[in-house]
Amino acid sequence: MQTDLKNRRLRLLKTHCPELEISTEKAVLESHGCDWTRFRTPDATVVVFPRSTDDVTRLVGVAAKHRIPLVPSGGRTGLSGGAIAPAGEVVVSFDQMRRIIDYNAVDRTLTVEPGVVTQAIQEYARQKNLYYPVSFASEGSSQIGGNIATNAGGIRVLRYGLTRDQVVGLKIVDGRAELIECNSGLVKNASGYDLRHLFIGSEGTLGLIVEAMLRLSDPPAPSRVMLLAVSSLEGMMTVFRQFNDALTLTAFEFLSGAAMSYVRAGHGLPEPMDTEAPYYALLEFDCADPDTEDLALQRFEYCLDEGFVLDGVISQSEAQAAELWRYREGISEAITRYTPYKNDLSVRISKIPDYLHALDQLAKSRYPEYEVLWYGHFGDGNLHMNILKPEDMPVEEFEKACARVNPDVFELTRTHHGSISAEHGIGLLKQNYLSYTRSDADIERMRGIKAVFDPMNIMNPGKLLG
Ligand code: MLT
Ligand code: ZN
Repeated sequence: MQTDLKNRRLRLLKTHCPELEISTEKAVLESHGCDWTRFRTPDATVVVFPRSTDDVTRLVGVAAKHRIPLVPSGGRTGLSGGAIAPAGEVVVSFDQMRRIIDYNAVDRTLTVEPGVVTQAIQEYARQKNLYYPVSFASEGSSQIGGNIATNAGGIRVLRYGLTRDQVVGLKIVDGRAELIECNSGLVKNASGYDLRHLFIGSEGTLGLIVEAMLRLSDPPAPSRVMLLAVSSLEGMMTVFRQFNDALTLTAFEFLSGAAMSYVRAGHGLPEPMDTEAPYYALLEFDCADPDTEDLALQRFEYCLDEGFVLDGVISQSEAQAAELWRYREGISEAITRYTPYKNDLSVRISKIPDYLHALDQLAKSRYPEYEVLWYGHFGDGNLHMNILKPEDMPVEEFEKACARVNPDVFELTRTHHGSISAEHGIGLLKQNYLSYTRSDADIERMRGIKAVFDPMNIMNPGKLLG
């Protein structure tokens, strides 16, 4: 990006928003101009730190008038490049908007600023003897604004739904610098288009979230976690059905044997059981009494007798449950050093075995020289395909090689009526493939919606729709 243009943007901001905290420090530009995605280099002009909705509105007004592109930045844990600023953009960090604004015990709602960290929301809810159910490995750093902008999913979707299902009110400053208030906490509201849901999952391309009202749930029942060694994908489906029919599942995750090896090596975890298997299932279920545990053990025995399951362990304490979760939640971090190329795919649950077999065949024939790991949220149909970069291969070459096979992966996804992005978003990395999941007419409709809220194209330009 040309220095002249960057200087002009900086000058305009300093002149028109003199009260705004800004940073042009190299380290801040690099850290805040980027998310967890590899494969792209940040080149932000400046990082700004608004402290209030007024600050955001003023900033967007100046940006709209002078066509300054803005990139929203939360906890920067995204994996599709949605928070990368690669072309001299102004990064809008919500690190200074971290207040919990209101808790309403009758409505069971929590109103927060966008920079509140997901885990802080979970903890706040717990103190009130309630529950914020959206949970995933990066919840200790990710911010609620980013969760909403990407409609974050995670591990308990099969029971509690996505972030979308928890948001009962939203305030947005759109690309026209107008404050839009959506729904204000109503449970029922049949007054026309629910704009809230347009902003959720829009990846910051329509406006900046400045406030959110979240629904809190009943506290969860006591639970148990089981880790099962599973003999095949068909076996996994049977195990899922057996347990899902008998128990109230809160999670049903899976990992391949290779993913198990990497997570163990990466975190120094012991063998979870004596038997090795091609796949592992990690289940969590409500278990308030011994009868429920007996029921779970009966289903386990049945799966063992029929050969679907080869071995298994069940938690007897919260500490043991947390230890078992590490085999699943620790994978992403354990493989970071292999610069994985990630595809985040989904199909209907019933289609997983067919789809995964076909994908695995494709990966073996087209990526014979790479290691491909599978893990994900089996219980909601979300599969994470991770291709590991050989140590001596340059990153650009590796990305190109992986991208060459993408059309085949996504064509297979299309024929299985799936999605090329289940929960990581389209961002910068997947926009060339959007048409494998959305029709041309749909993409045109999305462009039309963007033009309504962001006519100057200043809201995270270049992301999602390209
Ligand atoms: C996960 O399920 O572990 C996350 O989506 C992160 C990842 O896919 O690596
Ligand atoms: Zn995931």
